[in-house]
Amino acid sequence: MKHIPQRLALFTKKTEETPMKLETLALHAGYDGDPATHAATTPIYQTTSFTFDDTQHGADLFDLKVAGNIYTRIMNPTQAVLEQRLTEMEGGVGALCVASGMAAITYSIQCLASVGCNIVSTSQLYGGSYNLFAHTFPRQGIDVRFASHDDYAALEAHIDDNTRALFCESIGNPAGNVVDIVTLAEIAHRHGVPLIVDNTVPTPFLCKAFELGADIVIHSLTKYIGGHGTSIGGVIIDSGKFDWAAHAARFPMLNEPDPSYHGVVYTEALGPAAYIGRCRVVPLRNTGAAISPLNAFLIMQGLETLGLRMERHCENAQRVAEHLQRHPQVEWVSYAGLSDSPYHTLCKKITGGKASGILSFGIRGGKAAGAQFIDALQMILRLVNIGDAKSLACHPATTTHRQLGPEELVSAGVREDMVRLSIGIEHVDDIIADIDQALAAAA
Ligand SMILES: Cc1ncc(COP(=O)(O)O)c(C=O)c1O
Repeated sequence: MKHIPQRLALFTKKTEETPMKLETLALHAGYDGDPATHAATTPIYQTTSFTFDDTQHGADLFDLKVAGNIYTRIMNPTQAVLEQRLTEMEGGVGALCVASGMAAITYSIQCLASVGCNIVSTSQLYGGSYNLFAHTFPRQGIDVRFASHDDYAALEAHIDDNTRALFCESIGNPAGNVVDIVTLAEIAHRHGVPLIVDNTVPTPFLCKAFELGADIVIHSLTKYIGGHGTSIGGVIIDSGKFDWAAHAARFPMLNEPDPSYHGVVYTEALGPAAYIGRCRVVPLRNTGAAISPLNAFLIMQGLETLGLRMERHCENAQRVAEHLQRHPQVEWVSYAGLSDSPYHTLCKKITGGKASGILSFGIRGGKAAGAQFIDALQMILRLVNIGDAKSLACHPATTTHRQLGPEELVSAGVREDMVRLSIGIEHVDDIIADIDQALAAAA
């Protein structure tokens, strides 16, 4: 069997038409109305399974001779709309939504790497990603080699014949470092390796990672895209640009018959959507971290207003960063939107000068004062998430990054006195007032 319906890969044909703008795609892409009910909003297809017209139809679906839904672990129409919308917003050929950002990262690597392979990653990562790379993948036989995001020579030196991907976060969480995706893509491509970018913090509104050279984009949909702290989800989006067939020795799983899927050769059956198709029919189908239809629906409600929210997140974060910088109790502020930030120049190149809503600062009095500050907050929520419409605060060294030792903390860009703020879309005066009273309480 050489044929997989495009439906399974959600293959998007690029047209010559002028593409709509992101704000419009966020509202309309992927949904032409429900033929059965004419529902204006994407329905929640809250069903495990889909019926067959008759036994022949069922057989044809299983043989992949006709397109259609079978079972929600593999695909669901609500999920399909979200996938199409995100594909068009990032400018790719296909997407796969899964149960969490971590599942997306895991599958994005497992689709390419197996025992004996390695990936190369920047070290400034979200703590969960760092743990997956530093501790879980190595126990499964996939080695992960780290280097600082701006140590290009070290990143390149780590790449060898067994390297399957170069991985980075476009803006690191919580370090706030902006990564030069253009340079990393050049390094990866020199060696026939794809660049995978976790674009969670800037979102496509601030960073069009494919245009900068990325081959695969990941998002935790839990953050800005969902935006309201209701639902966990993740997505893998494929640019369709990486030539897997040209590097057949490095990527046998995409270029040789797959016995687990009717002997299909993904590059032959799906062309530019080979990678994202395999993500669905191998890691997702066989290990099952499917997104629930309800979560896909809720994330779509958030996605509709992403553009407006990102504008306000950036404006508010800029104002708060400038305020903190002037505050006598504040030792340092890390926010790429500040003109004296070491990442300011890259921020202009990679994210159009906008640094998203995450900033961190060190409070005079170190760890103890940091804890007092967090405890004194009255409106800003004490929790470990980011990207919510509401402002959030946390102390990474005792929460998200608490499993990391002192050296790992340094390499992840996390200081012990660091307070991380995820600035929401409340009125900025109220955010600053809460920060000021909490700083006073910690004096
Ligand atoms: C940059 C980044 N990537 C991935 C994740 C993991 O996402 P999830 O919590 O949806 O699994 C997070 C979570 O904080 C994150 O900040």
